[in-house]
Amino acid sequence: MYGKIIGTGSYVPQKVLTNDDLKQYVDTDDEWIRERTGIVCRHVMEDGETMKGMAVEASKRALQAAGVEAGELDMIIVSTVSSDLILPNTACYVQEQLNAKNAMCFDLNTACTGFMMAYNTVQTYINAGLIDTALIIGAEGLSRLVDWKDRGTCILFGDGAGAAVIHKDEQAVFDTVMHANGKGGSALSMEAGYALRDRAIDKAVSALSDKDRHLRTHIGMDGQEVFRFAVKNVPIIIKELLGKMEIKEQDIDLFLLHQANKRIIEGVIKRVGTTAEKVPMNLMEYGNTSSASIPILLDELVKQGSISEGDRIIMAGFGAGLTWAATYLEY
Ligand code: COA
Repeated sequence: MYGKIIGTGSYVPQKVLTNDDLKQYVDTDDEWIRERTGIVCRHVMEDGETMKGMAVEASKRALQAAGVEAGELDMIIVSTVSSDLILPNTACYVQEQLNAKNAMCFDLNTACTGFMMAYNTVQTYINAGLIDTALIIGAEGLSRLVDWKDRGTCILFGDGAGAAVIHKDEQAVFDTVMHANGKGGSALSMEAGYALRDRAIDKAVSALSDKDRHLRTHIGMDGQEVFRFAVKNVPIIIKELLGKMEIKEQDIDLFLLHQANKRIIEGVIKRVGTTAEKVPMNLMEYGNTSSASIPILLDELVKQGSISEGDRIIMAGFGAGLTWAATYLEY
């Protein structure tokens, strides 16, 4: 027995930064960003807004859509790389805000693959007979992690949260393929701020070169390396999942891909041999919101009426780790 998604919700901050707005921070232009990434704008938190607050808001909307009371939840998982909390975990904060007192709560970090890992984890618990109903959330405040002087990264990311309620269902179908390659970790990385303190006590920061400090206190990325990794591996993992399930591309109604870059998504469409109509995009509006991107897209499609009951969907995420995963679900 597995679970089905019975409600979705999402939240993005109101403040919008257009490509032209970014000129106040870095030497860039709208045309370059649109051509290389497809991104037109991104939503970012203002003073006083928090990643954990977005997680709560998306969760409330998902619970309302599902018609589920917070007290019915057995588990809450938050996927994030950008929590504004180290202790307690963000999921416990969400639990307290929702009064979901029967839920076990934990966070996980698989970067942009995270929503799938939260989904897969819940499916495994349901299948083991340990839980019936869970809330999963992908929430990211990446504007607080990027170096706003680095035009190679700051143009890409945005803030937001997406959530889904999953409930056990005899009709539910689930399968997945997952991979990680720690050897590629340096392509997309960031050390925790406190790691700097650990090195040579207070001398650590002054002893670092500017480049080191940038990489350690902000998101550092080898854009071309990440690009090549995604365009090569996402089609392979989708085909791997289709092969494992003995189904074909034609059997899939929708592919929900992590919203990183239009050119990556177009590359995947070509290599999987599918059509753009089956691979919706909203990165133009939100940029890359890491583990929030797939649940925000899912929620938008549900609200637009573009997903119907029974639709066969493959979600595929990829990102830091390096990690990548593809998951099959029937809505
Ligand atoms: N605006 C204007 N010019 C920029 C720029 C910006 N924001 N960022 C870089 N450039 C310049 C570079 O300095 C370089 O100039 P040069 O040729 O004079 O040296 C030129 O544009 C090309 O840079 P390059 O890094 O080769 O561009 P690219 O085509 O690889 O595009 C990315 C850069 C980051 C958009 C692209 O590599 C990418 O999207 N990678 C994947 C990143 C990603 O999705 N990460 C998250 C995964 S979860």
